[in-house]
Amino acid sequence: MPIFDLGARLLRQLPAETAHNATLTLAGAMTPFLPQPGPADPRLAVRAFGLDFPNPIGLAAGFDKNAQVPDAMARFGFGFVECGTVTPRPQDGNPRPRLFRLSEDRAVINRMGFNNGGMVLAARNLKARTGSYAKGSGGIVGINIGANKDSADRIADYALCFGELAGLADYVTVNVSSPNTPGLRGLQGKDELTRLLGTLTEARSKGIRKPILLKIAPDLDDAALDEIAEVVKASAIEGLIVSNTTIARPALRSANAGQTGGLSGKPLLAPSTRILGEMHRRLNGAVTLVGVGGIASGEDAYAKIRAGASLVQLYTALVYDGPGLVARIQRELSVCLARDGFANVTDAVGR
Ligand SMILES: Cc1cc2nc3c(=O)[nH]c(=O)nc-3n(C[C@H](O)[C@H](O)[C@H](O)COP(=O)(O)O)c2cc1C
Repeated sequence: MPIFDLGARLLRQLPAETAHNATLTLAGAMTPFLPQPGPADPRLAVRAFGLDFPNPIGLAAGFDKNAQVPDAMARFGFGFVECGTVTPRPQDGNPRPRLFRLSEDRAVINRMGFNNGGMVLAARNLKARTGSYAKGSGGIVGINIGANKDSADRIADYALCFGELAGLADYVTVNVSSPNTPGLRGLQGKDELTRLLGTLTEARSKGIRKPILLKIAPDLDDAALDEIAEVVKASAIEGLIVSNTTIARPALRSANAGQTGGLSGKPLLAPSTRILGEMHRRLNGAVTLVGVGGIASGEDAYAKIRAGASLVQLYTALVYDGPGLVARIQRELSVCLARDGFANVTDAVGR
């Protein structure tokens, strides 16, 4: 849809967060007028944690924090859309500016700090989805949950969000990897993570039976990866998302390179794919892997799949390439599979 790619180019003239908010407003207003995407190449269909994904390209968390526009984004061709991160109570996030383009690096640095309208607003938006979730007519929507910055009991925050939102989405992502909520990444440690995943899987066994995925950081050493793999294998969760943004600063050329926050986009592709491969080796098929970080082409998505991902997600490349990117990645991925003699995505996972 070239008109939308032109729109994306115009939006890049605005400050980053203003452009983002305008995009959400436009997408919301356009939802009823956007055509349903044509059927994806059947070789791209993936079945994972009990859900049928029309294609493996998802929209990563952080774009639609309050679940305002999942159906509009599905119409741009995403095989699934992850909303959030949502916290129990609304919170403003960090002072602006907090979102920075690094155009020369095809990257972004953000220190948003879980700005969101809280779980009650997200629930209301999910309930109001066009076509209604209950009728099953929308695309696959995940909800990504987190903790308030000033929470006295962060694990209780995840349980609250799970209770409020799990019934309104197809899967739930437990985000313990944002670098912008001080101390949050500490939940990736063995004891805390065991307690967190235990609390959520127990809540699930008594109520809403939805797949649970854990989203981790790329800034983890071998010992930390070992521990996470051990906890995940011992838990009853279904998936692992690798990865969130990085606090590392590889060589960057843009003026904004020194900003504090999480780096995403092209410079994250190689390190996040390496961690994905490390977790694939450690988990050996115990859970479904979702590869995120720096995807901007079919080859990039294919690299994640070969490293062990059954599904992939992206966000930053949309800022630079516009929504036409989603259909292009699908086409390129089909070419990669055919070139290497794979009958479908699943056959290429981890190969
Ligand atoms: C502006 C911005 C906000 C984000 N907010 C969230 C968030 O709320 N929760 C989360 O799990 N990840 C968040 N992310 C991380 C993305 O979901 C993704 O893991 C990361 O950006 C790497 O993918 P990419 O290189 O394709 O952007 C955010 C990323 C960006 C750029």
